[in-house]
This record gives sequence, structure tokens and C-alpha cells, in this order.
Amino acid sequence: MSVASLVADLHTARPLVAPSLLSCDFANVEREIRRVEAAGARLLHLDVMDGHFVPNLSIGVPVVKAIRRVTELPLDVHLMISEPWRYIEPFREAGADLLTIHVEVAPEPQALLEKIRSLGAAAGITLNPPTSVEAVRDCLPYCDLVLVMSVMAGFGGQEFEPVAVEKLAAVRRWAGEGLLLSVDGGVNLDTVGQCAAAGADLFVTGSALFSQDDYGAFLGKMTRLAKASKDGRN
Ligand code: DX5
Ligand code: ZN
Repeated sequence: MSVASLVADLHTARPLVAPSLLSCDFANVEREIRRVEAAGARLLHLDVMDGHFVPNLSIGVPVVKAIRRVTELPLDVHLMISEPWRYIEPFREAGADLLTIHVEVAPEPQALLEKIRSLGAAAGITLNPPTSVEAVRDCLPYCDLVLVMSVMAGFGGQEFEPVAVEKLAAVRRWAGEGLLLSVDGGVNLDTVGQCAAAGADLFVTGSALFSQDDYGAFLGKMTRLAKASKDGRN
């Protein structure tokens, strides 16, 4: 599928909840993927950490490649790594459909976003809670997605930081409806509404989802809350 049709499909399907596999049962990743597919997930969020830009390690290229083999869902790969330019091609080759880099470690973000698009993936930029939202403003014409971090990147299970809400609103105001606007960190039934009201349409959830017995019921509730808050905004 081309980037344009992938992005168009995601636009049509929003609001969307993107399961972050970081909190899934890693001894049974394929089974977890089947469960989120059956629950209605339309994409998977994969968190790549390098123990350098963030103080944690997670998965790398071989795991993304293995996941690619067992699912058709688009893979939304969040690179929490220094020197992201070294890894864009390997992650694209491994099967990433959306590739998101951190502005804090991208001295020339526009060039990297163009590189991602030239490889046939959708391009995303993200920023940590202490980073000013102004840092991504010039990137918007080069992006298919902006990911606003609502926790400091590095760990699942942290508490939502409300500073994300005003950033979501600013990006939505600047970019209009043509951009996928994602929020990541501490997103759950209590916080999804304020994010949707501020303009988010893609909700990454890790611990709140994978702590449930019934993934389908949880995704359904999240989507209903997001829709209701967005309708309140319009
Ligand atoms: C954090 C990751 C997130 C994480 C979210 O650095 O980028 O995607 O898995 O987890 P929760 O939903 O538990 O905050
Ligand atoms: Zn993430």
C-alpha cells in the first residue's frame, strides 16, 4: 500500500487506538497481536528504545521484522533513539509503515522526514513533555503524523502529563485536519477525552490496554469516549 493510501485509510478510520506492544506479554507476542486484531485494532505501535536517548532498552530491527511476518496491520514505529538517521532504512526494510523520530535528536528533522517519505513510509515527528511545541512547527509540511508525548519517553505505565493537551491543540490549529495527531503516554479512559477534545485522533495505549482481560471492550470504550469528546469540540 502506498503512503498516501495508508494515511488516507487511517484518516477515514479515526479516532483510532494504537496498542503499544511495550506492555504486552512478550512471551506470547503473536497471540497478543491476534487478540488486538480481534479487538478491532487498526494499527500497532512499536516502541524502539536504545538505552541512550532514553534510559531503557526495548526492541530493535529483528523484532519489528518478526512482527511484520505475523500481521498485516500497519506498524507505527516510534524511534526513541539517538542518531535516528542511522536506523531509518533498516526499520523501513523491516516493515515499518509509519516511522516517527524525536525532534530532540534530529538536528535536521525536515531532511529526515523527507528521507522517511522517500522510502515509502509515513513520516512522524515527536516531542517529549519538556520540549516546546514550537520545535515541531517548521516540520509540519514534511509530516504525516505528529506524536505528542504525554510522558517522558522511555517507559510504559507512567502518569499522563497535562502539558500534552495544549500542545495537541496548538499542532491541530497549525496543521488543520490533514494531519494525524497522536498522543502517547498515560492514555486511558480518564485522559482520552481531553486529548480528543484538543484535536488528537490517534491514541497510543500500552499499560491501560494490556492490563485488561477484554481488549475489545476497552478499545470500544476508548473509541466511544474519543468520538464523544471530538463531537463536543466541533
Ligand atoms: C513510552 C512509549 C509508550 C508506552 C505507553 O516511552 O512511547 O508508547 O508504551 O505506555 P502507557 O500507555 O503505559 O503509558
Ligand atoms: Zn511510543
